Amino acid sequence: GATGAVARDGRVALGGAIQSDYFDSDPRYGKAFLDHYDLVMPMNELKFSMIHPERDRWNFEPADRLVDFATTNGKLTRGHTHVWWGAMPDWVEEISSRREAESVLIEHIERVTDRYRGRLTGWDVVNEVIAYDPREDGPLRDTYWLRMLGPLHIPLAYQTVARTDPSARLVINDFDLEWKGELYTERRKVMLQLVRQLQDGGIDIRGVGIQGHLYVGREIDKEGLEAFHRELDRLGVALLVTELDVIDLESSTDPAIMDEAAYSIVKDFLDGIFAWKRPEMVVVWGITDRYTWIPDVMPRDDGSPHRPLPLTRDYAEKDWMVML
Ligand code: XIL
Repeated sequence: GATGAVARDGRVALGGAIQSDYFDSDPRYGKAFLDHYDLVMPMNELKFSMIHPERDRWNFEPADRLVDFATTNGKLTRGHTHVWWGAMPDWVEEISSRREAESVLIEHIERVTDRYRGRLTGWDVVNEVIAYDPREDGPLRDTYWLRMLGPLHIPLAYQTVARTDPSARLVINDFDLEWKGELYTERRKVMLQLVRQLQDGGIDIRGVGIQGHLYVGREIDKEGLEAFHRELDRLGVALLVTELDVIDLESSTDPAIMDEAAYSIVKDFLDGIFAWKRPEMVVVWGITDRYTWIPDVMPRDDGSPHRPLPLTRDYAEKDWMVML
């Protein structure tokens, strides 16, 4: 099967989420990726609504382009994601029969997984299935798939990937697993429960992805991360960082101060992640500040630019690139 960690000079593999759109408009984009990163993560191109926007229409081209780019240039690729509340096409949500919903899910996963069979090191099969606050409205998030198929849609999705591409490492991905506080301790607990349930159901779950969208001003629970990593290790499951970036709504508008704040929170996070052992890989969610999802969902009050990623808008390396 495909291996997980691939070291560069003894370091942990560094991935970057990229988008096919920018290859044509920005000649520096692909080159910057190749200069700095080991693994391609298609940011949106493999998501349900993008690759399967209508029942009888499949849109494989953008994903093909990224997977081909990786292969041609000797880089790894991983898949993201089959089951995610944030990428549901309307045509699916209109289906009201349980049986039909189930067959649509299976068929979708089979078709997409099969197309890239043997070419992706792994799949974030399900993404963000833990409720925002599992103590109140959980443990699972209220989604179309949960309403239609119940919690069993999760093992079903994993079984379908495993059957279609036995070499793909099966990963479960979620956010807000790194912070201090009861809520986040609970979220880590629920994630461990999900992993054990999948294992008890005979699923060879190989990794947990911590997204790592880091908010300046919040406190990383280094001990909590270390304990979480140790517990995963005991279960034979790897830890991956899958979507690292920095969301700074408060430190300053001065780039130097923002970059210092980013450096410091990334360092705390990686200290916690690396404390027990090295993670399988670290993937950043975007490669340059020029293209990032953050201003779309969390604009700064004064409209000043975010600086979430290890390369500036002009592709200069920031200090925190050395930690990656
Ligand atoms: C985001 C992308 O970055 C955006 O371009 C897109 O419009 C919406 O999705 N958690 C995830 C990612 O798991 O898939 C999300 O990506 C960001 C939050």
